[in-house]
Amino acid sequence: MRNDKIGLTLKIWRQPCSHSKGKLETFHVDAISPDMSFLEMLDVLNEQLTLDGKQPVAFDHDCREGVCGMCGAVVNGQAHGPEKETTLCQLHMRHFKDGETLVIEPFRARAFKVERDLVLDRSSLDQIIQAGGYVSVNTGGAPDGNAIPIAQDTAEQAMDAAACIGCGACVAACPNGSAMLFVSAKVSQLALLPQGHPERASRALNMVARMDELGFGNCGNERECEAVCPKSISIRNIACLNREFLKAALFG
Ligand code: FES
Repeated sequence: MRNDKIGLTLKIWRQPCSHSKGKLETFHVDAISPDMSFLEMLDVLNEQLTLDGKQPVAFDHDCREGVCGMCGAVVNGQAHGPEKETTLCQLHMRHFKDGETLVIEPFRARAFKVERDLVLDRSSLDQIIQAGGYVSVNTGGAPDGNAIPIAQDTAEQAMDAAACIGCGACVAACPNGSAMLFVSAKVSQLALLPQGHPERASRALNMVARMDELGFGNCGNERECEAVCPKSISIRNIACLNREFLKAALFG
């Protein structure tokens, strides 16, 4: 197994706050282990900057296990970097070559605001969920696992849609800044299961209306969203969202 350490030139977007202008700044890091994650490589840079009395690069992260959706940046033009089905926190430095230059920028979209460096305000995605991405139920004791029979195929499709971690890479990759893949994953997941049926019409209408109000664009069938999604959310969910929306608009 290759274990040579590598050195990189990093051109990173620096922006002190949401109201200021940003620019790319150049840094160099050495002795990067191929086993490090991308975020660990940024940790190395930040340690170096802190020791030099400089401001570390701000970036979002939480689980570092590919499940929370907090991390994300555009690396050399690709949301979450060059590896398919991989979040930035799960991207390993063995995928980069010694001496390479990486341009690292925040996810950009009209509905996202850069707070600082690579940190974004993605609360617009939360606002879409608040518009209907839930099931209103009185919670009681957990029902018996077999009380509501669901076909295996349907359960698997719902689970696939539920894998969306809401990172926003789909929005950043879409030329229209559309959140259709995100919204469709949430709508499909609930439309497929009986628990989601009572509110399915209002859910589709309200979530799409909120998405439009927040400045997300329309789907242009470019499929860039699907290509960068770290959880392989399929654009078949967008077809499902379109059906749900049409049915709700026509029949309520
Ligand atoms: S830090 Fe949680 S998905 Fe990357």
